[in-house]
Amino acid sequence: MTESVLRVQDLQAHFFTPEGVVKAVNGVSLDLRRGSTLAILGESGAGKTTIALAILNLLPYPGRIVGGHVFLEEREITALKGEELRRVRGREIAMIFQDPVSGLNPVLPVGVQVEEMITAHLRLSRKEAKRRSLEVLAQMGLSDPEQVASRYPFHLSGGMCQRVMIAIATALNPKVLIADEPTSALDVTIQAAILRELEELRCRHGTSILLITHDLGVVAQMAKQVAVMYAGSIVESGEAAEVFQRPRHPYTWALLSMRPRPDRDQRKPLPSIQGTQPNLAELPEECPFLPRCPKALSRCRQEPAPPLTRVAPGHTVACYNPVVHSDGQA
Ligand SMILES: Nc1ncnc2c1ncn2[C@@H]1O[C@H](COP(=O)(O)OP(=O)(O)OP(=O)(O)O)[C@@H](O)[C@H]1O
Ligand SMILES: [Mg+2]
Repeated sequence: MTESVLRVQDLQAHFFTPEGVVKAVNGVSLDLRRGSTLAILGESGAGKTTIALAILNLLPYPGRIVGGHVFLEEREITALKGEELRRVRGREIAMIFQDPVSGLNPVLPVGVQVEEMITAHLRLSRKEAKRRSLEVLAQMGLSDPEQVASRYPFHLSGGMCQRVMIAIATALNPKVLIADEPTSALDVTIQAAILRELEELRCRHGTSILLITHDLGVVAQMAKQVAVMYAGSIVESGEAAEVFQRPRHPYTWALLSMRPRPDRDQRKPLPSIQGTQPNLAELPEECPFLPRCPKALSRCRQEPAPPLTRVAPGHTVACYNPVVHSDGQA
């Protein structure tokens, strides 16, 4: 088995709002292998961004990590502060956000922003930093990097801004790149190009990618492993190919059956999962998917939420009544 580069262990992160405690992340464990892509898949409000921010110790007030550990290789990074934390962020773990335009400083040419990222961490002359910044911009498929570098963010398209953000994030060859919905603000053709650039980074530099998305197609295209998240917990995880072929949690199964497929009559409406996610400030003790679950048993109403349990090598599911596939194999 390939070694882990980033390990999240039983992470809990809550927001202490005046209206109550929003339990956004409740005991999440993840294992990102070196040079691989792990996707966190889940609908809006499931807690995906909260995990990413908690990993980098960037949770905004009133959010707090209330339990668990994050390890980068052998080192626990959950409790790092000050200079040590700054060195890990950017240098070893970098993050790109959903909205590229607001992630950039509007009053600085983008080239300067790439250079600043480099000089904040490496002792390079201005000339060397400039050379390196043009190199990373060129690597991101920007054909005239000098011209792009001289521009302000508002001069650039969304796709170009996202490329610049990725260039900033990857300028120092971080070990881990956390990409939070990196393409959902972009149109489809640009989306595909950005995903290709990310994949190239992974192949060229061995960057390990934690990819956050609500898009099944993005997972299928990019990820080796997937963790499906629902209402603050992982409900299913495993090799993406296995999970897609044999979804065992009723939630994953429902998500996959909603996917438009070429073999399905496109004029028929897609089935949708009825109901909504529970309010994370009032999470029930039992399975959070219960009110929407077509396979619920009386046990599901009586017992606490089921723990993640192994159903096949490397494939785990949190369900008392997982989906059984018709080929007889579990
Ligand atoms: N600053 C905050 N204060 C209070 N609650 C918050 C804050 N940020 C997030 N939350 C809550 O935490 C929960 C998880 O939010 P999060 O942003 O992690 O979800 P997400 O899976 O990233 O959703 P999306 O797909 O929409 O980005 C939500 O219920 C959200 O309302
Ligand atoms: Mg989010």
